[in-house]
Amino acid sequence: MRRTITVLSLLLVTTACATSPTGSSPATVADPMVSPILTGSDAVDTMTYAQPQEARVTHVALDLALDFEAKRVGGVADLRVLAEPGEEELVLDSNGLQISRITDGSGRELSYEIGERVEEGGKGAPLTIQLDGARNVSIQYMAPADAAALQWLTPEQTAGGEYPYLFSQGQAILNRTWIPTQDSPGIRQTWEARVTAPKPLDVVMSGVRQGEPEDLGNGRRAFRFVMDKPVPPYLIAIAAGDIDFQAIGPRSGVWAEPSALERAYNEVADTEEMIDAAEELYGEYRWGRYDMIVLPPAFPYGGMENPVMTFLTPTFIAGDRSNNGLVAHELAHSWSGNLVTNAVWEDSWLNEGVTSYFENRIVEAVYGEKRAEQEAALAFAGIEDVLAEVGMDAPGTALHHESTGAEIGSAITYDKGHFFLRTVENIVGRERFDAWLRQWFDNHAFQPATSELFYDDMMANLVVSQAEADRLMLREWIFEPGLPSNVARPDASAFAEVDTAVTAYANSGTIPAAYEGWTSAERVRFLDNIPKTRSAVQLAELDRTLELSSSQNNEILFLWLELALANRYEPAVPQTEEFLGRVGRAKFVSPLFATLWSEGDWGREHATRIYTETRPTYHAVTRGAVDRVMGRSE
Ligand code: BES
Ligand code: ZN
Repeated sequence: MRRTITVLSLLLVTTACATSPTGSSPATVADPMVSPILTGSDAVDTMTYAQPQEARVTHVALDLALDFEAKRVGGVADLRVLAEPGEEELVLDSNGLQISRITDGSGRELSYEIGERVEEGGKGAPLTIQLDGARNVSIQYMAPADAAALQWLTPEQTAGGEYPYLFSQGQAILNRTWIPTQDSPGIRQTWEARVTAPKPLDVVMSGVRQGEPEDLGNGRRAFRFVMDKPVPPYLIAIAAGDIDFQAIGPRSGVWAEPSALERAYNEVADTEEMIDAAEELYGEYRWGRYDMIVLPPAFPYGGMENPVMTFLTPTFIAGDRSNNGLVAHELAHSWSGNLVTNAVWEDSWLNEGVTSYFENRIVEAVYGEKRAEQEAALAFAGIEDVLAEVGMDAPGTALHHESTGAEIGSAITYDKGHFFLRTVENIVGRERFDAWLRQWFDNHAFQPATSELFYDDMMANLVVSQAEADRLMLREWIFEPGLPSNVARPDASAFAEVDTAVTAYANSGTIPAAYEGWTSAERVRFLDNIPKTRSAVQLAELDRTLELSSSQNNEILFLWLELALANRYEPAVPQTEEFLGRVGRAKFVSPLFATLWSEGDWGREHATRIYTETRPTYHAVTRGAVDRVMGRSE
């Protein structure tokens, strides 16, 4: 019976999209009358309490006040609910929300219950509301100061040093700590928000800002936002601080603190070109504007693809745009991830792997084949390293795998996913592959997807013969661990010169004179591959000759600190301490603590001392990662 409804609603939504192929008419896609009651797939999200097949939220309207003193966000969430006539219960996700009152659209009290909270894994608790016929639900609530999605920065944690700052990070299941809704990637909601903040702070969200902020006359201003395309709830995001905007192209721009704006702008100045390149590859950019905000260095990720407002770490800024593949990546998510979304987190390769492939294609289009090939070769080396470490049979090395929290890094979800698509491209040819990927985005726009759907779609719309199917090994790629034998390896010559220099250095200690002229990827390749055991004299010589500890590129600085700490090189400690006190990006912070932690008493003493100072300055994501490294649990 349920299955029938699924198919029916899938048909309905497909029809709705077919009449609006650009997706630019959100009213059609978002109309509750044609939205599916099921997620559009049979995949079951075990990370949510929501029962979207019974009753689902189709629109969220937030009216929130930011309280920087108490570090709390609170107000009202009005939810529009789609449910069969007899359906009486709406189940939402909540993780620590303090609910004061729930009413229907006309102010009538509705009864509700918050179930038992699961401490492990962040799933939180079900918030079950008795609808009593209501299809509009109004929730008065407050997110506490320790809401894991939110980080409230002190003025000292900002570049300006004068005003506090707030940002959120929703993916994967953190938004339930500040928004009461159904927090599953398989469902989609339009949303709007009114947010008040103290002057002179500005607020941005992952929706389009409406008009000028309204001065409330009490030292506060109100900002309004609308996201009229249905998005998965993990993509609702907010940032507030002393920030300014600079335009890049007709539909792109960048926000950052005033003193950081010029450097930020310079690093992302190619964005409009990237959008053009992406559209050329896989079809129209459907979200209107593409703006970015470069956050303070406490942001726990490199970037986050919040629609119309990508969030970026400032630590990717190197002065020469060498790490701006990050922008290509977050931009690519405007198709893979934000248009077509993994229905469950076990399929996150559909977001991240497809995006990593797409990113590489944008880099190739804008910066040329050499840079793209080198970046792909670095990614491939990462896959090989991980497989060598965990074994070709490790279940977590299948693209479709249980999310374990502590992932096998990004090597599988991102890079094996990337190389899967590269392999398919290689076998069927670029022209056919690109046409296929474009129709994948078009035909599944604003819908969830699963590995099985991806496979079926390839079989239906790409593969032309059994012989070709045999050559592609699709199911092995998606569902089996390890690396299929047909993998399209990166061009072996991509790093020929660097690899020769690595051997020369390993054999005779010759530090390559060519290093200065190398690309960032070449430098990373070199530092990643030289012998791991070095004496203090050797490290000092490397640092002096290659100016590693004064590198403006954090990818290089990070590799240097790792190498130095792994050899208990004392001069690197103060710099590590400074870095860890300023930067909260988990990709850097967690391995540096792990390196120290693995260096006996020497390293553990340093790690413990530093972490005591820095732990309170980290976002919950980074704190969680370092706690695991150092064997702590809250
Ligand atoms: N969506 C991810 C960030 C993310 C992944 C947050 C999983 C929470 C759970 C984002 O697009 C991303 O991949 N960021 C990378 C960028 C890099 C691969 C260019 C990062 O932060 O390092
Ligand atoms: Zn990503």
